[in-house]
Amino acid sequence: MRYDFSNIKIFIEDDYTAMGKRGAEVFSEQLAANPNGNYGFATGSTPVSMYQELIRRYQAGDIDFSNINTFNLDEYYPIKKENNQSYDYFMKENLFRHVNLDLARMNIPNGEATDYQQECEAYEERIKAAGGIDLQILGIGTNGHIGFNEPNAYFMERTNYATLTASTIQSNKIYFASEDEMPKHAISMGIGSIMMARKILMLISGANKAEAAAQLLFGNITPQVPATALRLHQDVTIVLDQDAAKLIKDRL
Ligand code: F6R
Repeated sequence: MRYDFSNIKIFIEDDYTAMGKRGAEVFSEQLAANPNGNYGFATGSTPVSMYQELIRRYQAGDIDFSNINTFNLDEYYPIKKENNQSYDYFMKENLFRHVNLDLARMNIPNGEATDYQQECEAYEERIKAAGGIDLQILGIGTNGHIGFNEPNAYFMERTNYATLTASTIQSNKIYFASEDEMPKHAISMGIGSIMMARKILMLISGANKAEAAAQLLFGNITPQVPATALRLHQDVTIVLDQDAAKLIKDRL
């Protein structure tokens, strides 16, 4: 079901799989319209069903990644690319090595950089030099973060060195052998970098995201809930599953 809410198009789908299919449809339409564009990707559990559907569409000969550039939102810092929890590893594993993306066109902040400040500036420059991001895929944290822009991040900030909050460490430590092994920092596009993307596609799944989804759409626009910045963006599509939409669906 599609709703229009101010500048935001909202799709509520039955479940996680259907959310991924709808996300893939929105993405594929953009890819067909702009096959040479710059596409921003997210990691985490939410976009995996969408990536699976994109792989299926690629295998069916329906979509072509060969002329796009990719820019991922973020990467842990410090982390080795070969670490199976790095976002570099995640993207290759979950999407990029299954489609015809030229890996030379893949951009992910370098978790191995010796100078993280320099890497932040260089990454932002690479986005700018490529002409900006045409479509940015996003997930949302239970605390309303986007990328690793945690509560109270500045709306204008560009790619930056982020310190993860206790809540994000809590959510993500399950992927590491122990909390000690989880990096406590990241290099992340800033909210300002995300807001510069021409289009935004956000996916939200699960009951634990229902409150963040409600804040995103109905809460005050505030850095305390970083995702609320998106209400100031001109072209946002949000795809939710029923569980994530439970606090909003009667209010649309
Ligand atoms: C991932 C990212 C994060 C996630 C968010 C939700 O690149 O930037 O903001 O989108 O933490 O993660 P999941 O999907 O695992 O719930």
